[in-house]
Amino acid sequence: MTSVLRTSQSQSPLILRTLSGEATTPPPLWMMRQAGRYLPEYRALRAEAGSFLDLCYTPRLATEVTLQPIRRFGFDAAILFSDILVVPHALGQELWFAEGEGPRLAPVTTAADLAQLREDLDPDRIGAVLETVAQVRAILPRETALLGFCGAPWTVATYMVAGRGTPDQAPALDLAARDPQLFKAIIDRLVGQSTRYLVSQLQAGADAVQIFDSWAGALIGDEALYRRWCLEPISRIVSGVRAEVPDAKIIGFPKGSGRFYPLFAEESGVDAVGLDQGLGLDDARAVQAIRPVQGNLDPEVLLSGGDGLDRAIDAILEALGGRPHIFNLGHGILPQTPIQHVERLVKRVRGGLG
Ligand code: CP3
Repeated sequence: MTSVLRTSQSQSPLILRTLSGEATTPPPLWMMRQAGRYLPEYRALRAEAGSFLDLCYTPRLATEVTLQPIRRFGFDAAILFSDILVVPHALGQELWFAEGEGPRLAPVTTAADLAQLREDLDPDRIGAVLETVAQVRAILPRETALLGFCGAPWTVATYMVAGRGTPDQAPALDLAARDPQLFKAIIDRLVGQSTRYLVSQLQAGADAVQIFDSWAGALIGDEALYRRWCLEPISRIVSGVRAEVPDAKIIGFPKGSGRFYPLFAEESGVDAVGLDQGLGLDDARAVQAIRPVQGNLDPEVLLSGGDGLDRAIDAILEALGGRPHIFNLGHGILPQTPIQHVERLVKRVRGGLG
């Protein structure tokens, strides 16, 4: 089972060197949503599990799914197979995944709704995730990093409030404007529990963690909102995690932050900043002058493949090479992406042109 995993002489995962500020050639490589529907072996186990949540909460299956993209492509990091919405679920919020439609939750929009949720995470649900972390770490070769993760409070709250994904996650912005005290109470609950959750993942064997703020872009119209709901909650998590695990390595991904990316890099406290594909490479270099960066190949370009893919990869390597950079997509891989395009990407980033 482990024999086809990539091996190398170095024991320290490449990505940890980047997170410590070292530039390497080639850069470490992994892909957001690297375990997912574009892989036939994922679709097979997903069918065996029955539902997506059963897959997340069954350590044997979640471990296997986490390892699938490592076996196939030899990425430098595996990411725990789970979901950011496991946190509200473990707080007792009803959650289900409607087939082909994405997540659904019983919306939290009043103080009474919030009062019905737990103060801490249900150990039965979280225990299964932590067991997966331990199982994966036991199987992965030392030089492959295991990344844990959580959603940022803002992004998780947008789903908790709307009860689903919406085109702009406006229901959360509305609630924050209408009842800032209630909204702050939701955010505070998430800050505290996400901090504990990341600490537990690091203690169970994760080498580093990523905080996904997929909806940060909904806050960039107003710096005060961006600071209050994206930047501050994330920096509180970062300092809370470091208070317990002083050398914790943390990647922040405030997707869509645009003009606020440098502010995020300066003030959040994260070790590396995930960039989405909307950020131009000159702006990406400006962020990289502050902190190591991760990204930012457009998932649509990976889907299309061909010369356009090669050119986009080369442009990123040229712009961000020579300084600390983790090669990744600017958002998750699209389910229709051909596997050959991923193989082409791996080969090109690692220097085997053509
Ligand atoms: O990256 C990985 O491979 C690790 C696993 C992972 C998943 N979701 C698996 C998943 C991670 C890190 C996430 C994060 C996540 N989940 C985010 C933040 C990153 C992002 O993509 O913006 C968000 C917003 C969610 C919430 C979520 N989960 C949505 C909106 C959806 C539906 C959209 C979709 O792609 O189907 C999910 C479901 C989900 N999470 C799937 C996977 C593999 C697909 C479920 C399936 O197999 O049917």
